[in-house]
Amino acid sequence: MSQNVSMRCSGYYNKNSDTQKAGIDACLPWLLNSIDSPSFICQFNSNHISIMDIGTSEGSNSIYAFKKIVHSIRNNTDKTVSLYFSDLPTNDYNQLILTLFPQGETTFSQDNIHTFVSAGNAFQALMPPESVHIATTYNVLGFLEKTPEAKIPNHILPMPPSTLSQNKKANLTEEQRLPFKLEAAKNLADFLHHRSIELSKNGKLLIQTFGRNENISCSDGIYDVLADAILDCIEVGFLPYEFYQSLVFPVYFRSIEELLEPIKYDSVLGKKFEIEHFECKEVEVPFNRELDRTGDYVLWANRYTSMLRAFSETFLYSAIQGYLSENDKSHVIDHIYSNVTKRLISSPTQYPFRYITIAALLTRK
Ligand SMILES: C[S@@+](CC[C@H](N)C(=O)[O-])C[C@H]1O[C@@H](n2cnc3c(N)ncnc32)[C@H](O)[C@@H]1O
Repeated sequence: MSQNVSMRCSGYYNKNSDTQKAGIDACLPWLLNSIDSPSFICQFNSNHISIMDIGTSEGSNSIYAFKKIVHSIRNNTDKTVSLYFSDLPTNDYNQLILTLFPQGETTFSQDNIHTFVSAGNAFQALMPPESVHIATTYNVLGFLEKTPEAKIPNHILPMPPSTLSQNKKANLTEEQRLPFKLEAAKNLADFLHHRSIELSKNGKLLIQTFGRNENISCSDGIYDVLADAILDCIEVGFLPYEFYQSLVFPVYFRSIEELLEPIKYDSVLGKKFEIEHFECKEVEVPFNRELDRTGDYVLWANRYTSMLRAFSETFLYSAIQGYLSENDKSHVIDHIYSNVTKRLISSPTQYPFRYITIAALLTRK
């Protein structure tokens, strides 16, 4: 069973994920261009087209992308389209259904479109063999299936803190990082292996996630401020220092080389996929753009905190288990994120958030 890295529920992730949507916009056109032709559809000896998104969370960004994909498909065929929404069993599926059926009516109002929701693990089998024509995944593949036993006592992430971090103790060695790097490599290979079974010949796989380039990691700033906000709570006695020493977010920020490595160098996977397009890119962050326009640091700090909270709170909540009573947990979690906002307002230049995304469009050979 994968660990609980689900997003904050009840519509919170949907409301606070326009940054992730910008990452989708940066690579989705490759897929749309690639499938918007009669020849793409004609290749499949099937009376319907089956499209799956893996790690849909509460659904709004997946629906946004699915609508564009369906538009490209509909330019070329009237075949029935099946859309599969998949995420971990811990996902908020009630909210996903509400997003899919606002006011009880499907958001995909055209004829011949069927939607399916299924729970599963991206690093395992999700669909029957050769049943999928297009598979996508956005902002998912950095979440590790398991946290390696290795300890990182001086930081909360298996990635170095940013060079701007004022926390001189926050560090980790390459040796400490290695088990996480290996787990990320194993997860990616497992993901590609299962998709290679599930995709039809000539099917497309679009993979996009947060990552790093030679100079910046998408973790810079954002995990520095979270680490500092947790230390603030330790300083006032809300949490023991052992909590910080044991806390490791199971998130790994790959380089584009690491994303492509299994396809380029794994003799089995290399035979299954062809790389059609790839890129490592810095994507403009909506709340940074708004800050440039308005100069409103309070608004910026609130939006930044909400995005961070949307993807980190559930894991933090489960990690705090055993350190606090049920009643104190919510209070302390609120305190941590309020410290994040305060720090962002008082020292904005110490915690810049830059969204580095890595993506590849693959074709099943
Ligand atoms: C940051 S959200 C991305 C949601 C959406 N794809 C987007 O781009 O807005 C990450 C999602 O990945 C899911 N996830 C993480 N690990 C997963 C796994 N092993 N299998 C399936 N889903 C996973 C989480 O539950 C969460 O819903």
